[in-house]
Amino acid sequence: MPFYRTMGSVPPKRHIKHRRSGNSHLDEGIYYEHVLTTEGFDRVYSITYHLRPPTRVVGTSLLRNVELEAAEDLPLRVHHFMSANMPRGGDFIDGRVPMMFNDDLVAYRCRPAEQQSMLFRNAAADEIIFVQQGSGKVETTYGTLPYRRGDYIVIPRTTTFQMVADDIEKEDYLILESNSPCRVPQQYLNVDGQMMLGAPYYERDLHGPTELNPVDKNETTTIIVKERHRLTKVEMANHPLDVVGWDGYLYPFTFNAWDFEPLTGTVHLPPPYQQTFECDGFVICTFAPRYLDHHPEAVKVPYAHSNTQADEVLFYVDGQFGSRKGVEACSFSFHPGGIPHGPHPGTIVGSESHDRTEEMAVMFDTDHPLTITKEAMEMDDPQYPLSWIDE
Ligand SMILES: [Fe+2]
Repeated sequence: MPFYRTMGSVPPKRHIKHRRSGNSHLDEGIYYEHVLTTEGFDRVYSITYHLRPPTRVVGTSLLRNVELEAAEDLPLRVHHFMSANMPRGGDFIDGRVPMMFNDDLVAYRCRPAEQQSMLFRNAAADEIIFVQQGSGKVETTYGTLPYRRGDYIVIPRTTTFQMVADDIEKEDYLILESNSPCRVPQQYLNVDGQMMLGAPYYERDLHGPTELNPVDKNETTTIIVKERHRLTKVEMANHPLDVVGWDGYLYPFTFNAWDFEPLTGTVHLPPPYQQTFECDGFVICTFAPRYLDHHPEAVKVPYAHSNTQADEVLFYVDGQFGSRKGVEACSFSFHPGGIPHGPHPGTIVGSESHDRTEEMAVMFDTDHPLTITKEAMEMDDPQYPLSWIDE
């Protein structure tokens, strides 16, 4: 996060005693400091204060390994994965269906059938949860974070959390697990660290936790900790969401895709203008409802292009997508480097009379090739690669 935030009770200086009134549970008379860092001690961090030490592990056991299975013997080609009717199953943790992956990220679809029953922490990756449908709150180390449809929920690694959906039967997510921190793009920050005038969103559009409700329970509590592909059951002596105050630059937040302020040019502007977040090895872009290009002769859909050294994945959220036929909400289009792609036949003429598009889509664009999973191929539309041929 680019800016400082504080909630609840913190002492006047870091690393000094944060005295509490009355007896502490451990009779030491203080709240327990916990420093959460990123990239060693070099990048953003926060300092939290707990009712009990955050270190009271009473047991660990391997739950299982999550294997990513690559689809076999695939030619290099474009794909259209239709995931709208993917059956519901599991919860937020075990209901994840891997779609594609490389060394920088794993992309999952998740349509849970049950509420998340245990706390979860991703030890090695940031989680970017795009809420295709649903609403609720995330109970986190840093407090309660409300979410709604269209939110990117960005949860930094090491954050312990639990999704609490308003109605589990409506929940529908795209989850990106990023092996590097998810950041506001550097080009949107001035040298003072503030988001620049002219950036497509700014600090007021980023929403952090709204309230702290420390859980005072001195009873064994389970956290499922994910570290790369390994899921470990960690039993704590007390409930770990017992933070009474914190400050720093590291915390979960939401940004709603409909708050993105898209730019429109006289002629087509390429995806870097839609960039929303940056991670090592990929960027995330938001194609929000916008006015179309307004040169009198403008072609109002993107030009055909070869996205060399970039696999380009669009996840369609809402509206009619102007340059593509046959895609629907929850479709993925996957365009690997090496095969040019562009508007479908008829869409250049079809868009001439339009001034606006109400489409909403989320894109992730990777530096390195993605591997398609077996699960994704079960949703593959075999006709899509040939859909640029005139009828
Ligand atoms: Fe493209």
